[in-house]
Order: sequence, then structure tokens, then C-alpha cells
Amino acid sequence: MSDLSKLIADTRATLSRIASDFSPAVFASSLAAEDMVLTDLILKGGYDIGIFSLETGRLHKETLDMLDKVKAHYGYDIALFKPQAEAVEAYVAQHGLNAFYDSIEMRKECCRIRKVEPLGRALSGNKAWVTGQRRAQAATRSSLMVEEDDPAHFMTKFNPLADWSEEDVWNYIRENKVPYNALHDQGYPSIGCEPCTRAIQPGEDVRAGRWWWENPESKECGLHVVDGKLIRIKSVAA
Ligand code: ADX
Ligand code: SF4
Repeated sequence: MSDLSKLIADTRATLSRIASDFSPAVFASSLAAEDMVLTDLILKGGYDIGIFSLETGRLHKETLDMLDKVKAHYGYDIALFKPQAEAVEAYVAQHGLNAFYDSIEMRKECCRIRKVEPLGRALSGNKAWVTGQRRAQAATRSSLMVEEDDPAHFMTKFNPLADWSEEDVWNYIRENKVPYNALHDQGYPSIGCEPCTRAIQPGEDVRAGRWWWENPESKECGLHVVDGKLIRIKSVAA
């Protein structure tokens, strides 16, 4: 068995366990490459795990196009969770449309309104949630486990691709003809909101284009932290 076949078998086993032991469970998809691997595995495998995206209102057209591509390829409608209009309007009225460039606090407040609060609604009523995070993605993810406690949402959190490399992700996408975000072919290995993501130069870190004006240690949007700390309360190897 090749290394990738082993990773795929392990990931399928994790997804199967989530569907059988943690129902109802949901997968948070940013519609980027890792999340398309999980989308492909979940939908082709028929695992009972719902898929949603946080539609922040600031995503690239290419990212939004993925919703139609998923529908055309798999016949599946990804559920969308959007920020509360009043909260967005109040932030923009008080601080301006692009205040997230002004300070880490302003940036985190925008992420809180556009991502973290809608995530809470998306996760409500579930026993577990699934992400496409990988250990090799960032300094902040070096101790990521496949299964973790998420005390912020009172549920279990799974990162089934924790052990996958960037190369594994792209080999899977190519071998299985998985649809992917067109921005990945334009120098964007990591994709978030349009104003907070830019293309990287060859040799740069894969997340160098995310919140590029901040230090690597602060480059998390709040989806995966509790009270400023990364969630690593209890870790159980899969
Ligand atoms: S981020 O937290 O800094 O934005 P990244 O873009 O690497 O992280 O995404 C990590 C994981 O967070 C994704 O695999 C996905 O599970 C979740 N995620 C990030 N952005 C979204 C989004 N807009 N909608 C749903 N899930 C998301
Ligand atoms: Fe706001 Fe940028 Fe965070 Fe998106 S990534 S929610 S635009 S600060």
C-alpha cells in the first residue's frame, strides 16, 4: 500500500467513526484544496456528515464558484452560514469597510463577526465537527491531532487530514479529478477572504499570503482558538 493509500484508508476510517459514533456531525469547508479532498471522500463514501461553508461576504468569486462546481460534480448543495447583517453594518459604520488592516484587534473583531459567530450557529446541535486543517500548514498547527476536544463548542473536533502533506493533498486531487478553486493555479496555496489573502512567491511559506501584514503567531481567524489559545485540551490519537 502506498503512503497515500494508507492515509486515505485511515481518513476513511476516521470519517466512518465520526458518522457512526458522533452523529449528527458536520464538516466546515472553506472550499479550498484540503476541504475538497474531504468533500470528495465524504460524498463518494456516503458518510452521514453534513457540509457547510461560512460565507463571510468577502470571499473571492473563484471561491463562491466552487459552490456551483460541487453541485455540478456531486449533486450536493453545501449549506451556507452568513454573518448577522446588523453586526456587519455596525462594524463597517463605526470602523470602515477595511478596518481589519488597522490592528490585530480590528482584524479579529471582523473575523469574529464574519466567521466565529456564524460558526457557532453552524455547529449548534451537533456532536462533532470536522475541519481540513493539517499539521504542516502552520507554526500554530504543529501539534494538531486527528481528534481533539473543542471546549468552545462543547463537542469533539476532528482534523482527519492532520497527517497529510501538501503533496498528498494535490496527488489525491489529481488522481481523483477533484474540482478545485481556480485561485490555487494563480499562486494561492491557502485561501481565505479576498482582502486578507494574496498570492505568494515561489519558496514562500504556504500561509504567507494570509493576513500577510501580521506575524505568523497571530495568523488564525478564531475558528480554531479559545480565549486566544489554540485548542489542545485533550488529544486522542485516532
Ligand atoms: S483559517 O482558520 O486560518 O481561516 P484555513 O483557511 O487554513 O484557516 O482553514 C482551516 C480550516 O478551517 C478549513 O479546513 C475549514 O475546516 C475551516 N474553515 C476555514 N474557513 C472556512 C470557511 N469560510 N467556511 C467553513 N470552514 C472554514
Ligand atoms: Fe474579515 Fe479578513 Fe477575517 Fe475575512 S479574513 S473575516 S475579511 S478580517
